[in-house]
Order: sequence, then structure tokens, then C-alpha cells
Amino acid sequence: MYVCLCRGITDNQIRKAVQAGKTEFRQLKQSLEVGAQCGKCVRMTMEIIAAELDKM
Ligand code: FES
Repeated sequence: MYVCLCRGITDNQIRKAVQAGKTEFRQLKQSLEVGAQCGKCVRMTMEIIAAELDKM
């Protein structure tokens, strides 16, 4: 599903980036540009990061 509508970023893209070592929001913003526009997706992105880190 789309998490960031402004940049067209899906939850799967975010999960894969976290699994690849981008475990901080700042890193995801730099690489995927998630949250780089309106910012409405930041909270959900943080929840996905936390969920992925729990699985590790
Ligand atoms: Fe992600 Fe707007 S929805 S920056």
C-alpha cells in the first residue's frame, strides 16, 4: 500500500530499506524521499520502521 502519496512510496519499499540497514527516518528520507513534501506520512513511516526493527 502507498504510505507516501506525495512521492509514491509503498510500505514494501520502506520495509526493504529498513532491512537493508536504513533504520532511521532520516536515512529513509534521504534515500527514498519519503516524508520530503507534506510530511503526512512521517508517523506511519515511523510505525513501519518500529515494526520492522521488532522483527529483527
Ligand atoms: Fe509523504 Fe506527503 S505523503 S510527503
